[in-house]
Amino acid sequence: MAHVTIDTMKAVVVANWKMHPQTFKDARKLFDSTKKAIETARNVSVIVAPPSVFVRELSRGYRGRIAFAAQGARAELEGAFTGDVSLAQMRDARCTYAIVGHAERRARGETNEDVAAQLKASLSLGLSPILCVGEKERSSDGTHYAFIKEELRSALSGIKPSDIKKILIAYEPVWAIGAVKPMTSRDMHEMGIFIRKCVVESIGDAGMDVRILYGGAIDQNTARPMIEEAHVHGLLVGRASLERGVFVAILESLSA
Ligand code: 13P
Repeated sequence: MAHVTIDTMKAVVVANWKMHPQTFKDARKLFDSTKKAIETARNVSVIVAPPSVFVRELSRGYRGRIAFAAQGARAELEGAFTGDVSLAQMRDARCTYAIVGHAERRARGETNEDVAAQLKASLSLGLSPILCVGEKERSSDGTHYAFIKEELRSALSGIKPSDIKKILIAYEPVWAIGAVKPMTSRDMHEMGIFIRKCVVESIGDAGMDVRILYGGAIDQNTARPMIEEAHVHGLLVGRASLERGVFVAILESLSA
């Protein structure tokens, strides 16, 4: 069965379900409501990242335009890694994207080296990586810029400039994940310019075309202003992707 590729000229919304919901029955309901929501949201491309145990069954027989992403997986094709899944296995389960370097996995010990290996493995398997970067906190002396630059440099070193088209970079400041409010669109605009500059430094002029997403506390009120005012290509959504009404409202707001 064909893997779904999305139209990335449209705004991209990634629904990161994290470790939700508890049962496959509820995952099915959530996916059904997401499918319904996308029927009317023609201007939006949606990528769903369910827990890995649900992906194969959700994707079975599905022929619509929602793509699936791995939330995080190992670069090794297979091996003695109890409890883990590999990017190759997620690809086999019909994922087309892979979230790489999410803050919640970095917090559990994934290093910049692990993230770089996963990014390269994703590309070689034909998965498009969604590379997450973001500082834990901000200080007035701007050290977070150096931190982001290093996360980008280490992940992108050695990739072919032509591969940048396949990569989405998601800026998710750790302090905005799970927070009440997202960062301001003005600050995101500034960060987007900085990220683009870092990518150009790493891989050359092809980096100008990199697509940048924002993630952290996005809901139906903040989705559209963030895309319009911060000039980002799309959003990585956690909690709001689990509530049917809220996720529908996000997609509708972007299609209006
Ligand atoms: P929230 O949208 O729940 O803040 O989570 C953001 C996130 O981590 C998406 O990957």
